[in-house]
Amino acid sequence: GSAYLGRPWIQVKNVSRLCHAKPIVTVNGRFPGPTIYVREGDRILVNVTNHAQYNMSIHWHGLKQFCNGWADGPAYITQCPIKTGRSYTYDFNVTGQRGTLWWHAHILWLRATVYGAIVIMPKPGTPFPFPQPHMEEVIIFGEWWNNDVEEIVKQGNKLGLPPNASDAHTINGKPGPLFPCSEKYTFAMDVEQGKTYLLRIINAALNDELFFAIAGHNVTVVEIDAVYTKPFTTQAILIAPGQTTNVLVQATQSPGRYFMASRPFMDAPLFIDNKTATAILQYKGISNSVLPILPQLPAPNDTVFALGYNSKLRSLNAPQFPANNRLPDNPPTPFNYTGAPLTANLGTTSGTRLSKIAYNSTVQLVLQDTNLLTVESHPFHLHGYNFFVVGTGIGNFDPKKDPAKFNLVDPPERNTVGVPTGGWTAIRFRADNPGVWFMHCHLELHTGWGLKTAFVGE
Ligand code: C2O
Repeated sequence: GSAYLGRPWIQVKNVSRLCHAKPIVTVNGRFPGPTIYVREGDRILVNVTNHAQYNMSIHWHGLKQFCNGWADGPAYITQCPIKTGRSYTYDFNVTGQRGTLWWHAHILWLRATVYGAIVIMPKPGTPFPFPQPHMEEVIIFGEWWNNDVEEIVKQGNKLGLPPNASDAHTINGKPGPLFPCSEKYTFAMDVEQGKTYLLRIINAALNDELFFAIAGHNVTVVEIDAVYTKPFTTQAILIAPGQTTNVLVQATQSPGRYFMASRPFMDAPLFIDNKTATAILQYKGISNSVLPILPQLPAPNDTVFALGYNSKLRSLNAPQFPANNRLPDNPPTPFNYTGAPLTANLGTTSGTRLSKIAYNSTVQLVLQDTNLLTVESHPFHLHGYNFFVVGTGIGNFDPKKDPAKFNLVDPPERNTVGVPTGGWTAIRFRADNPGVWFMHCHLELHTGWGLKTAFVGE
């Protein structure tokens, strides 16, 4: 491979959206930040200099960082933050991965504005396992607050309340014309009739799982979290914060202008927001004055669509999977979530106890949502590994019956999984990466409240 060298500056810049201008923290003055294009096998060297007033760190979300935890980025887990005026070099190899991933600030709520895409092309001469697209485009979902995000979070903490919901959702940093003063802050993508396009979709929103659809066009899912999937065609996708999804879209409709739109799925009652961000898919030669058509999105509480969608995600290749490794018949349960009285489940404690995992052992985790406070699903992200999503269900996990229904044939492999509201998700991975690896809910609000832990791979 070759080397990618970057010398980004973290700097504050005035940016305006929704009729409000405010200083935001950026990378090189850009919002969203620059896309990093590399190839499988490349070495990445990024020397970050921090000129903002906040401490900073950058996480390379989904990069496995094999034996290389010090380049992973979560502040206070594997590195001290980069102080104002200082710099730090992230040095890592892109090994055994190709596809769409992303990078973001991993301290405070700074990832509200400090994020960007990582596109890893396959090795030279290795084609995609799907028809070669004519062109490709990065589509990143985000959220915009009219006021200073760190101030909002501080105020919320003082009052013991969640901070305000964002004022808009965005696509490539732009909310689209359904928001005030946003006509010129609308992302548009030109397509040619008859051609196929690859969209590299990333959910960088802080607190919302999102539906996404394009009016008049189905999409074909071909990759999630930089792992190829068995292709399937769908009218809409569902994507949780932290996840990425590559889709193919064919420009075979009558030439026109079509809205692409994202909107939250299942918000917490305190956090209601049904805002729709829009961008435009525009056929070449069509005038800008033609009004675009809005797509049909699943209803904000359409759990049936969500479960159906997630069940269609299957790895393309028979995974090298620890299916044959026997798990103990009665694995230890560190925390009894089932049947525990409400008060016991509410009584969380903060601490720094970590779970150790033996090198090369097979790990199975069952993530159980107790559904006590919210109706959200929790996008759980594990650093340092991909895992296989072997099972999921509604209600409490039953260790006697549920494992019999696990998918050990073509489970999706990913780095972030949505644990359904009032349900569970079982994941497995082989602990082949020594280091300290953070695991947390990728809803920023929940990370801040303590829905996080770390594993020490020995
Ligand atoms: Cu994308 Cu620990 O985060």
